[in-house]
Amino acid sequence: MAENLEQLRKIFPSAFTEGKVDFEALRELLGDAADDGDEKFGLTWFGKRNARRIALKPSTATLMPRPDESLSWDSTQNVMIEGDNLEVLKLLQKSYANQVKLIVIDPPYNTGKDFIYPDSFQDGVQNYLELTGQTGVDGTRLSSNSETSGRYHSAWLDMMYPRLFLARQLLSEDGAIFIFIDSTEVANLRLICDEIFGGDCFVIDLIWRKRDGAPNDRTVGSVHDHILVYGKGLAPNSTRTLAEERFNLMPRTAKADAQYQVFREPGGPDPRGAFRKIDTTANAKGGRDVASLHYGLTNPHTGEVVYPREGTCWRHSQEEMERLQADGRLYWGVNGTATTPMRKLYRSEAKDGMTTPSILPDMPFNQHAARELEVLFGRKSIFDTPKPVDLLRLLIRIGSNPGDIVMDFFAGSGSTGEAVLKSNSEGAGDRRFILAQLPEPTGFGDFATIADITRARLRSSSQAAASTSSTADTGFRSFSLGAGNIVRWDTSRQDFEQQAFEQIDNIREDRAEWDVLFELLLSQGLDLASSVESRVFAGTQVFATGGGLLFACLPPSGSINAGNSEEIAKGIISWRDELQPEADVTVFLKDAAFGDDIAKANLVAILEQHESPFVVKSL
Ligand SMILES: C[S@@+](CC[C@H](N)C(=O)[O-])C[C@H]1O[C@@H](n2cnc3c(N)ncnc32)[C@H](O)[C@@H]1O
Repeated sequence: MAENLEQLRKIFPSAFTEGKVDFEALRELLGDAADDGDEKFGLTWFGKRNARRIALKPSTATLMPRPDESLSWDSTQNVMIEGDNLEVLKLLQKSYANQVKLIVIDPPYNTGKDFIYPDSFQDGVQNYLELTGQTGVDGTRLSSNSETSGRYHSAWLDMMYPRLFLARQLLSEDGAIFIFIDSTEVANLRLICDEIFGGDCFVIDLIWRKRDGAPNDRTVGSVHDHILVYGKGLAPNSTRTLAEERFNLMPRTAKADAQYQVFREPGGPDPRGAFRKIDTTANAKGGRDVASLHYGLTNPHTGEVVYPREGTCWRHSQEEMERLQADGRLYWGVNGTATTPMRKLYRSEAKDGMTTPSILPDMPFNQHAARELEVLFGRKSIFDTPKPVDLLRLLIRIGSNPGDIVMDFFAGSGSTGEAVLKSNSEGAGDRRFILAQLPEPTGFGDFATIADITRARLRSSSQAAASTSSTADTGFRSFSLGAGNIVRWDTSRQDFEQQAFEQIDNIREDRAEWDVLFELLLSQGLDLASSVESRVFAGTQVFATGGGLLFACLPPSGSINAGNSEEIAKGIISWRDELQPEADVTVFLKDAAFGDDIAKANLVAILEQHESPFVVKSL
């Protein structure tokens, strides 16, 4: 929000009075471009304003590291987060704004059987903990959104709107989002995406054939899903998105490959090998007719001079056609007697791939995805709505490149994570994934929540990926959403003295130093995959992360005193000098760790008054 306001202030400085937007002034500055009418094009529903406010309300939650649930914690760049994705998306804003190249999501389709997450404006994380049964209250409020609920579409839109809004901010300028959906909500989704991403940034509606035959119990039945694709920024001087301009081609299908053949010709097979035949004429009706494209061309086999057929003209200039002819790049039929030659496009010279058609060809069906899970888990029906890994791999190939971040915040069984691992291990370069998944209860004893299934799938597919490549990153760092580490002042409590006493150490009792460290890391906009080191100075543990951009000293209460504060400060200074970070360095000190004020003042003074001073913050 602050960044957006800053951008607006840069463009329209005179539309700001005392730091606030002056809408009247802005309207005048915009002139005719401002839409003053009461009636506007777009989708409205009861609750839309609240959905917008929910997106902008900061989160009070944090992401707690779970090294025991992770794989290769120290070396991996991949991240799996258990939690409600709205809070998660908010927490990731600072670290990943404009950094994610590709978001692939497969949200609940709102078919009447899905659980649709009810957000709370009051307290997002408390709502989450209650809904998922983590506050002692049974998580029974997780019921499906039925068609008879009266707010059927609105409830789904309330859920989707803020998440898409926050997702857009994470995308890089050349990034794209691919959203799976079926006919139930496709029209509504398209309208809110036009609003959030901008109608100009709509790229395509891809159609995935998800089943072979239509359902038997219907007279007309759907066999496809939609994948709506939106980019973020437009390419310079273009009506297309940057994402689309940078998309990769898809691999050629067997059918497309079969068009390349070694055709028979009068002089024997072409030594350049297989080629595809391309029309050399173009429709010349109406305004498309160009006089200079009607010329005679000599057939080298018969000597006959040929002209384009009635209603057509040549596609290329005379000079270009003669160059193609001289280079043996025109095909005149098996006997050389054709009256219209074809151009040869050699397989060896063709692009490494093909344009992705809007109806995706040769993709696996839903049933293949179910089978993939059955093979991984050794049993049927562990998760209802998985997507096929090869379909996700195709989307990942089109929309991202090695080194890019691929995100899926409706991760389900973790198929997007598996698709990234598989692509990486098969030599497509290292992409990173960030997944988020709600711990929705499953009713199974062994995998109590869907998030457990996600992690289990990642672990199992990581093994398979590691057996294909010994160098690919096949691990993941696991995190879980929880209430912030700092206990905030509760204005509803009457026992002020007791609360003030509790606030002396304001970090939640059940939290470890690492938990606090990762909250600080996010608050400073560092990557969740940053490496963290620790050293002990005068018996006190100090952490450094972000290549030395952040130091944190969070030991138990009272453990820093006049006897060790100087040594700790000197330790931090020499460590910073070793790491040589390129920007300002922040040191976080836990207030309650100091035995007395003098020790704190001493440590802070040494750090702040150093010739290259530190930014010191207390918590
Ligand atoms: C259609 S499934 C995704 C399936 C996934 N593409 C796959 O192949 O396994 C949607 C998932 O989103 C999860 N979900 C729904 N609301 C959520 C929320 N607020 N935060 C995080 N995950 C959520 C559901 O638990 C479900 O697993």
